Amino acid sequence: MISIDSALKEYPNKLLFNNLSLKLNEGMRVGLVGRNGSGKSTLLKIILGLESLDSGTIDIAKTASIGYLPQEIIPGTKNSIIEETLAAFPKIKALEQQIQSVNIKLKTDSQNNNLLNHLSILHNEFEQIDGWNIEKKAKVILGGLGFSEDQFIKPFDSFSGGWRMRCYLAGILLKEPNFLFLDEPTNHLDLNAIIWMETFLSKWNGGLLMISHDRNFLDKSVNNILELDRFRGNLYSGNYSNYILKCEEKKIHIEKAYNNQQKLIKDTEKFIERFRAKDSKAKQVQSRIKQLNKLKIIDPVNTNKRLSINISEPERGPLKVVELNNVTKSFGQNIVYSNLNLIIERGQKIGLVGENGAGKSTLLKMLANVEDPSTGIISFGANINVHYFGQHQVESLNMNETIFNTISSISSDWSQTKIRSYLGSFFFEKDMVENKVKVLSGGEKSRLALAKLLVKPANLILLDEPTNHLDIDSRNIIEIAFKNYLGTLVCISHDRHFLNEVTNHTIEVQDCSIKAFLGNYDYYLEKKSQAQINDNHFFSNKKLKTNKETYQQIKHLKNRKVKIKNRVNSIETELEKISNKLLNDNISSNYEKLQSLQIKQNNLELEYIELIEELEKIELDNGI
Ligand SMILES: Nc1ncnc2c1ncn2[C@@H]1O[C@H](COP(=O)(O)OP(=O)(O)OP(=O)(O)O)[C@@H](O)[C@H]1O
Ligand SMILES: [Mg+2]
Repeated sequence: MISIDSALKEYPNKLLFNNLSLKLNEGMRVGLVGRNGSGKSTLLKIILGLESLDSGTIDIAKTASIGYLPQEIIPGTKNSIIEETLAAFPKIKALEQQIQSVNIKLKTDSQNNNLLNHLSILHNEFEQIDGWNIEKKAKVILGGLGFSEDQFIKPFDSFSGGWRMRCYLAGILLKEPNFLFLDEPTNHLDLNAIIWMETFLSKWNGGLLMISHDRNFLDKSVNNILELDRFRGNLYSGNYSNYILKCEEKKIHIEKAYNNQQKLIKDTEKFIERFRAKDSKAKQVQSRIKQLNKLKIIDPVNTNKRLSINISEPERGPLKVVELNNVTKSFGQNIVYSNLNLIIERGQKIGLVGENGAGKSTLLKMLANVEDPSTGIISFGANINVHYFGQHQVESLNMNETIFNTISSISSDWSQTKIRSYLGSFFFEKDMVENKVKVLSGGEKSRLALAKLLVKPANLILLDEPTNHLDIDSRNIIEIAFKNYLGTLVCISHDRHFLNEVTNHTIEVQDCSIKAFLGNYDYYLEKKSQAQINDNHFFSNKKLKTNKETYQQIKHLKNRKVKIKNRVNSIETELEKISNKLLNDNISSNYEKLQSLQIKQNNLELEYIELIEELEKIELDNGI
């Protein structure tokens, strides 16, 4: 269906791929992986005809139609959700306008044959693209994606990233493509929405080419992995875990071959060196030189450079960094916090956790002074500097600036060398620093936004999803940096690994209030489950357990596991039924039913997550 042969693509200062060949058949589900800046998004754009190849060929079957969700969704417009969805069909709008203008002319010239002919042609065209039904179809799809009827007419830019993405997706699905190209669709989704997306994709029958750095998500959604690595594309069948296994095997194999070859090269060079001057060996020396020249050199396995970021340390500030006193916060009728009291002290590294919509980002914004509390007082210790990395931090970058100038313009006392070495620790090396920000990949922009933020020291750093877009290597580096940072930090992250490595406190946001835990995310989970166990009087006996008791507990847990699995299966069936109903044409006219189905769907999805988490915990804690 789509085939690429010997493709070469390079930008000034950057070779993306060389000799890349690839075949994507109908219905194939492929995860596209690779480091930030390896060319994943560019490859999608090339197939879509939005970018060109420097050499090589690309063949796309005439029957192929591709729906494309870009990595960075254009910032919102004031258009309504339904208008934004229909914008996927600009032709409809254009035809509607033409029909309207011909009709206006006909009002004063009703017998004009030319106009009447023109109108009939326009009507035909409109019918051919199903113009009369398109709005109805759009509403059904939007409903299926979780929008309620009253939201159809709300402005697009009043929705969060995850909902904007769903709206964009509705426009794509409206076109009924047979291949979906998705570029990091989970970046702006919360856990619920990720589960929703997984369910959606599991039912998607067409082809799929999807970029993601999310291992679990890939495992559930694709059965092939296309890896961009060292200027090549390698296709592996199987899911992401399987790909990692194969990679490890391949790495060991390449390492061996590389070491053998290096030894051969050294031995040969030694021989040449030793006998170069000897006439009697001239022939052998010549043949060895030829042998060396002919050798197809094996590249070493990617050895991750040991880079590290040093976050500028602040002057040691006061013990009390910030205090919230009787803070309340509400948006209209929606009360997010009532009577919030909290003291954050020097050196605390706090992870904010809780359901989506519970108010984590709002708390961070109040601490950052971006959002005012409705009532109450937030007071900072003397000379406390605050840095805030928001979810849309990339927007703080000037797209027409170079990478180098982005940093030099705010680090007046830094030498060129210091700036270059600082940028190098964020993986921006050599000539690349002269590139304009606008050409950077999603992950590179995120990394640069972080680099910009960390130039000046701060006592309190506030991070809202800092690892979005970042590949595994970049995550590891910033994880170490924040772990070593001596100041105070509050962060929101879906990345459990990040939370566990970086934080030493956890604050749970729930029911308009907060609860503090004196440890990282794992500690918090442990305390939560203990509390749950105590609540259930599950293990109420505190004395050492006898074998019999242990046996009883295990039996109980095993029974619980069976129950959970049964419930999970029945939820899956119920969710499937609901989503079939939601896609049913008749439902669009019955909004009450539509809404009640959506509420049911939401509740089931929430229960589903809770059960899966409980199941994982039982398995992890008890090894059963
Ligand atoms: N017009 C351009 N000029 C110079 N370099 C460019 C241009 N466009 C893209 N690049 C570079 O090409 C590389 C590949 O970009 P691309 O967006 O395809 O990466 P990606 O693999 O999708 O990365 P990410 O995981 O961060 O999204 C990046 O290093 C980017 O800076
Ligand atoms: Mg990309």
